[in-house]
Amino acid sequence: MNQDFEFYNPTQVFFGRSAMENLPGLLSLYGPNVLLAYGGGSIRANGVYDQVIQALADSGKQVTEFTGIMPNPTYAKVLEGGRLARACQADLILAVGGGSVIDCAKAVAIAAVEDGDLWKRHWLEKRPPDADPLPVGAVLTMVGTGSEMDGDSVVTNEETKFKTSTWDYSLYPRFAILNPEFTYSVPEYQMVSGIFDILSHIMEIYFSPEDEDNLSDDFSEALMKSVIRNTAAALENPRDYTARGNLMWASSLALSGLLAPSKRQDWEVHQIQHQIGAYYDCAHGMGLAAISPAYYRLVCPYGLAKFKRFAINVWGIDPAGKSDEEVAYAGINALAAFIQNSRMTTNLRQLGLPDDSLLETIAATCNLRQGGYHPLTRTEVLQVLRESF
Ligand code: NZQ
Ligand code: ZN
Repeated sequence: MNQDFEFYNPTQVFFGRSAMENLPGLLSLYGPNVLLAYGGGSIRANGVYDQVIQALADSGKQVTEFTGIMPNPTYAKVLEGGRLARACQADLILAVGGGSVIDCAKAVAIAAVEDGDLWKRHWLEKRPPDADPLPVGAVLTMVGTGSEMDGDSVVTNEETKFKTSTWDYSLYPRFAILNPEFTYSVPEYQMVSGIFDILSHIMEIYFSPEDEDNLSDDFSEALMKSVIRNTAAALENPRDYTARGNLMWASSLALSGLLAPSKRQDWEVHQIQHQIGAYYDCAHGMGLAAISPAYYRLVCPYGLAKFKRFAINVWGIDPAGKSDEEVAYAGINALAAFIQNSRMTTNLRQLGLPDDSLLETIAATCNLRQGGYHPLTRTEVLQVLRESF
């Protein structure tokens, strides 16, 4: 661990079958008015809604519902939530759902207390909130983004066609309820999308300097191996509590800050995916899966030693009789095979892009990051997109 770092994660996590029993006690820490934020209705179908409503009733809360938060939440939806939070004088926003619901709740937490052009100030200029955002609590129902234990809020501006995040310590959920059973009802497509999102978060940190002996890379390899192992088990039996639990905790840890110390971090795959998502409303993790093999093949020569280590330590590739390049590319091939075998999206056509007409626009508008082994030019972004099509 050669680089200086700061570590702080303020989210209080309750994990397991009985995690919901803590909700009334947690609610009692906040004022009487709760804005209950959720998505398109999955929580009503799987019974989580009833459990949450019961806890709110037991705690004597006044509840205002903010519903219909869509996957890849829009800035317009954030502003709608902000108006509702003000009208009901919310003391707490309780987000029940996946990353989209939690991200939207965090953004509403800002919109409830600030006026003016929030998009410009916080999402484009990345400035911290001007006033303390409302507190957010999370009941997680879909695994992948890590939003339940991080300070990011990813929002899409539909008018300007730009999807990006803002981050602040004040946006970390105050508490997160993690019951793996709540994820049993997630459709397989969404489950494997979330799983690739976890892997991608880990890889975007792992495939970057520094490469000195550091605990972060060791943690990353352990998490990746756990995710890979438990994916097979969850595909085999979606109600495998152990597998769903391991995936859930891996997801939360991946972006909790645990893996970041001493790492510069890449995040270019996420930048490209966010711009694909700005133009084509698609499952975030599936977009990452569609472009990752092409991206890592392009970057591999610039971080060869790390890709070799990935192949051996994560995928169990036997290096005997192989050159470093052969070992490294065998690791990326193993990743591509995992994507295919886990019924994830293997290219952009499968993701739902009808043609390649917007690839140049996506390449021209995505953020270019400097953190990876090889910062991409726009021509190289386009190359990745074309190879992934
Ligand atoms: O809307 P509902 O009815 O809840 O249905 C959702 C949605 O259709 C459904 N779902 C969730 N839990 C379910 C369930 N269906 C059945 N049973 C359940 N228990 O799944 C669908 C997808 O949900 P969504 O929240 O959109 O998925 P995800 O958790 O992957 O979140 C994606 C969003 O998070 C952002 C992404 O960009 C995207 O906008 N990200 C947030 C990050 C963060 N805050 O740190 C980091 C990520 O890299 C990512 O960018
Ligand atoms: Zn992600």
